[in-house]
Amino acid sequence: MEPNSVEIDKIAREFDGDACEFCERYKNKGLSRSSKLLLRFILDNRVRDRSILDLGCGAGGLSFELLKEGAGNAVGFDLSPNMLSAATELAQANGFESRAKFELGNAATSELPGSDIVVMDKVLCCYSEWKPLLKNAMEASRMMIGFTVPRDAGLTKLPFRLALKVVNYFQKRRGGVLFYLHPLGTIDKTMRESGFTRRKKQGSRFWLVFLYSRI
Ligand SMILES: C[S@@+](CC[C@H](N)C(=O)[O-])C[C@H]1O[C@@H](n2cnc3c(N)ncnc32)[C@H](O)[C@@H]1O
Repeated sequence: MEPNSVEIDKIAREFDGDACEFCERYKNKGLSRSSKLLLRFILDNRVRDRSILDLGCGAGGLSFELLKEGAGNAVGFDLSPNMLSAATELAQANGFESRAKFELGNAATSELPGSDIVVMDKVLCCYSEWKPLLKNAMEASRMMIGFTVPRDAGLTKLPFRLALKVVNYFQKRRGGVLFYLHPLGTIDKTMRESGFTRRKKQGSRFWLVFLYSRI
């Protein structure tokens, strides 16, 4: 059994409820502004034939956009069965069923396939244990890791922290998922000590987008 099985269940339940909305939003509007930024960072490098590992893939939008740009294949992991069903349906609708595979699992503890490019788009903030999640992602990555976290920096830091306290107060009351602002300095240090170099960092309205590479 997972050490934090209560949290895992909460994440699955919460995002099961959001799956339709994620899927419809991608169908109607495509990627969010911050996900487009992460996509652009990745596309500044060669993606043709590269393998993608999309941790906390949700409905799989970022994977599909990378496949459209020539990535070879994509594997997504998520804790929410409904998100995975949405991603699988979208893969079929977009003709990617042979190149995209979606699996139920905790990205922090599952055995992950070694992949050229690993992405975690708005995922670290939904999970309390950032260290095993990041470690597992780094071990799986052959070339690059891109991720998006809440914009807990600069002028937005204080309002963000206050807003999150309010959100988490209500989430706790309703037994929902809590959202985390993990220490960005320590995350950067951990990435560097593991042989990754930060290539890009940019804020969108509410998010900070990072790209690291092994070279
Ligand atoms: C805010 S959603 C983002 C989904 C997608 N990456 C996107 O940007 O549209 C976070 C997703 O991460 C998943 N998730 C959170 N922690 C996870 C973990 N430890 N392992 C796998 N999936 C996780 C949730 O189930 C949810 O679908």
